[in-house]
This record gives sequence, C-alpha cells and structure tokens, in this order.
Amino acid sequence: MEFVRVDREEGLAIIVIDRQEKLNALNPDVIGELGTAFASLRDDASVRGVLLTGAGSKAFVAGADIGVLAEMSPATGVEVSRQGQGVFRSIERFPKPVVAAVGGYALGGGCELALACHLRVASENARFGLPEVGLGIIPGYGGTIRLSRIVGLGRALELTLTGEMIGAEHARDIGLVNRVFPAASFLDDAKTFAGTIIQKAPVALRLALESVYGALDSSTAEALRHESALFGLLASTEDMREGMSAFLEKRKPEFTGA
Ligand code: COA
Repeated sequence: MEFVRVDREEGLAIIVIDRQEKLNALNPDVIGELGTAFASLRDDASVRGVLLTGAGSKAFVAGADIGVLAEMSPATGVEVSRQGQGVFRSIERFPKPVVAAVGGYALGGGCELALACHLRVASENARFGLPEVGLGIIPGYGGTIRLSRIVGLGRALELTLTGEMIGAEHARDIGLVNRVFPAASFLDDAKTFAGTIIQKAPVALRLALESVYGALDSSTAEALRHESALFGLLASTEDMREGMSAFLEKRKPEFTGA
C-alpha cells in the first residue's frame, strides 16, 4: 500500500496514514487502503486492538483532499461521501477496540475519522474542527451523525456551524477526546492506553462494542434484549471463568479469547 502501513506491537496493530506532504489528507486511494488495512486485521486472532494515527507530528489527518473535492459533480460527490462512509462504518463496527491517536490537526474528514473510532486520545498540540461550511460543503463521512452522539447536540452544532478549531484540552472538556498526553511522549502514552484496553477479555470487548453500537440502531426494548443475550453468551466463554477465578485467586487474568 502506498499511503497506509500497519505496524504490530504485540497484540496491538498500529495503522499509520502516511501522506505527510499533504498533511495526510484523505483521497480515494488513502480511504481505500484504510479499508483494506482494517479488513486484513479483522479476523487475525493475534490482533486484539488497533491504534490509528497519522505520520509526522503535524497532522493526524487534515481532512478530505480538497483537490479531489474541488472537481466533484453532484453524482461523484455522492460517491465520494459513500466511499468514506462505508470505510468509516467498517471502523466503527470493527470487532476489536480502535483508538484514534491524534497528534496535530484532525480537521474535516480527519475529525470524522477520529469520531468513527471507538476512543480518541490526543497530543496536547492536537487541533480538532469541522471547517466544511467554510468550503461550501458539509461533513460527508458521518460527522453530522456521530459528533452529536459524542459531544451532544449543542456542541456539535457549534463546531459544525462555526467551523472553528478547538485545542486538545477543550476537546477533552467536551468529551470529544478521552485523554490528552504531553506531545513528547504522546505516541508511547497512546500505545500504553490502548495496550491496557487490549489486556481485557477479547470476546467481552467485542460484545461490549456490539451492544453499545447496536443500541444506537434499535429501540430501548430491543437493545435491552440484545444486551441480555450477549451477557448470557459470555457465560459460555473460558475467559469469563478465567476472569472470575483470577479475581477470587487474587492473580492477574490471562485471557485467550476463548
Ligand atoms: N486537502 C488537500 N491538501 C491539503 C489539505 C487538504 N485537506 N490540508 C493540507 N493540504 C496540503 C496543503 O495544500 C499543502 O500542500 P502544498 O505544499 O502542495 O501547497 C500541504 O498540505 C501543507 O499544508 P499547509 O496549508 O501549507 O500547512 P499550514 O501549516 O500552513 O496549514 C492547515 C495547516 C491544516 C491549517 C491547512 O493546511 C488547512 O487549512 N488545510 C485544510 C483543512 C480543511 O479545510 N480540511 C477539511 C477539508 S473538507
């Protein structure tokens, strides 16, 4: 792949978007490669979680590629949006935890990409924003749906309608970011954060994600039934027995994903 690489550190896959001369802006090739990278890790049992980041310290992703957007027609505009939505949806529904590690700019499609991840951590120099209305467009990769679910309607509308950028601390204050780390140690701190999550029981992590995201698309009654079914299903796992035995025996659990 030309713009996306996958590194591995124990159970963590680190997906790096590397198009630094354009601040990692997303063109159709970058988005396609991102989809391929996630698909290749989905059924790989040695991978327990993903950290998604941008190469260089200047940007996570500075948005969709404005050069490409400038050429779009009404028909190709729909295709551009659908391609990004499809890949971002596959990230949101990825069955293992996905953490966005945001250093520098996460603007437009870059901010939307971070929103499609399950959690977001940021360097103290990170900047978030949805500048689309200043370009005569709207966020088209799911941002108009996901942002309000994460930060609430009022704050989502403020960011969407003003197009203003906010810093990492502000992003954390409104719940857009889960943790902020010093710039010097940011990537190591992000790996440690993701590494702690992937120590947990893999099937429990998968079913927690399924219950949380499944609930967004169903009624409360359906979501509660679904949660009970998943809760019951976990009683069939060796990891549940291991987690509870380890607690009772005052030792650290060793989860296998079985
Ligand atoms: N699409 C295409 N190219 C982009 C880009 C984008 N979203 N964001 C940055 N680039 C390119 C710049 O055109 C420039 O390319 P060049 O060297 O060939 O001219 C290169 O990346 C470096 O960016 P530059 O603007 O010189 O860096 P800067 O530090 O002065 O400014 C930003 C950084 C992020 C403030 C500025 O690049 C910017 O506003 N980018 C667009 C952000 C945006 O609107 N994103 C939403 C798109 S829907």
